[in-house]
Amino acid sequence: MAETPVQVVILAAGQGKRMHSNLPKVLHPVAGKPLVRHVIDTARSLAPAKIVVVYGHGGEVVRSTVDLPDISWTRQEPQLGTGHAVAQALPVLAGEGQILVLYGDVPLTKASTLKRLLHAGKDGLAILTVELADPTGYGRIVRDAEGKVLCIVEEKDATSEERVIREVNTGIMAIPSDRLADWLSRLSNRNAQGEYYLTDIVALAVSEGASVRTAQPDADWEVLGVNSKVQLARLERVHQRNLAAAMLVGGVRLADPERIDVRGEVNFGRDVFIDVGCVFEGQVDLGDAVEIGPYCVLKNVKVGAGTRVAAFCHFEEALIGADGVLGPYARLRPGTELGPEVHIGNFVEVKKSRIAARSKANHLAYIGDAEIGERVNVGAGTITCNYDGANKFTTIIEDDVFIGSDTQLVAPVTVGRGATLGAGTTLTKNAPAGALTLSRARQTTLTAWVRPQKVKK
Ligand code: UD1
Ligand code: CA
Repeated sequence: MAETPVQVVILAAGQGKRMHSNLPKVLHPVAGKPLVRHVIDTARSLAPAKIVVVYGHGGEVVRSTVDLPDISWTRQEPQLGTGHAVAQALPVLAGEGQILVLYGDVPLTKASTLKRLLHAGKDGLAILTVELADPTGYGRIVRDAEGKVLCIVEEKDATSEERVIREVNTGIMAIPSDRLADWLSRLSNRNAQGEYYLTDIVALAVSEGASVRTAQPDADWEVLGVNSKVQLARLERVHQRNLAAAMLVGGVRLADPERIDVRGEVNFGRDVFIDVGCVFEGQVDLGDAVEIGPYCVLKNVKVGAGTRVAAFCHFEEALIGADGVLGPYARLRPGTELGPEVHIGNFVEVKKSRIAARSKANHLAYIGDAEIGERVNVGAGTITCNYDGANKFTTIIEDDVFIGSDTQLVAPVTVGRGATLGAGTTLTKNAPAGALTLSRARQTTLTAWVRPQKVKK
């Protein structure tokens, strides 16, 4: 069946007073992504002919933050209701098909649900509805004795009999574009809230004998909106639970699916294990049999197969080879590239450096702007002095080097293949290959020396 073209209108002009925030409501994040971006991304997955966002007071920030080439923007000022909001999009809408109305503060609706709604509305109007145990605050779906939809009545305008109705309007609708402008032009604001209700088009459609049908989401959380931080937190948990469930289904072992946060995308191989309290941001790729210990943060990181990451690590913009042993308490900063079987231990920070196969920095080190070869041992307390206060310089450490503890490498400097640096060396000139280089003063003992005594007053 050839689907009719769809144009999406996203309502996002509401103020969101109950968020108690300077940030516009639809920019508050779920899984690190603004609410309205979730709605836009779902809308995009339907391949619509157009996406229009209706924004309002303070919404310039929304526009500049989201700013995508395929989005049209239209301002609603003042905000006179949902019907008035959709009317602001009319000049931007063009052509036939269906107009899908979404809310910018309802982030988790599934594309499959929207497709079902569009199908229900293929020759008329369709409303996404749910039955709620407590329908308070929602518009009620009023049906006749045969179950045919008659109208939507808002809570504030409802009679006590209507308030008993548990089937509610989610606000999401599919409207035939050839009827939209006419229906909107006939809305009135003679109601309890003095607003132009989009919901009143339902009674207009019924009076014309147009088809009015309903569709339902698979789960109630798909149609939950955000009006407060309480609801934001609730939706975050729902979403995280869904992401964790998908990872489990895909074969990842999670120590506790309630204690993982994904703010981006995680790709994973077979037999991956993730312990509690980890946060994944951006694009994270975990190879086969990767193990991530508790309380790690990984942002835009690729981890090679078989690598084990112990507790409390923080990795950002890093490429990690296979069979590595990392942490606990390791920090990899942007531009880190580790070859296979590299060990990075506790309180070791690596920035913009390449460390080749089987090299180790196991304790308390800073490696910045460095090129480290294979099988290098970086002793405890080693520091690349890469910065002179104005410029950054590179340290090169060739294959099979042994760097003694508490060494400073004052860049630019090169340590030749197979060289050894004695503990406590401050290296300011290149160290030749294969030799031992030291810079510390010779140890002496002063036998005549006595400890200072406290002077009596
Ligand atoms: C609306 C529906 C109600 C439904 C409920 C679901 C109407 C008249 N009522 O009620 O039937 O049960 O949603 O949550 O449609 N908005 C604008 N401009 C405006 C007014 C609203 O852009 O002038 C946007 C808001 O930002 C929000 C959405 O429209 O995203 C809904 O607005 P809201 O005020 O929350 O509608 P409700 O009164 O809750
Ligand atoms: Ca609402």
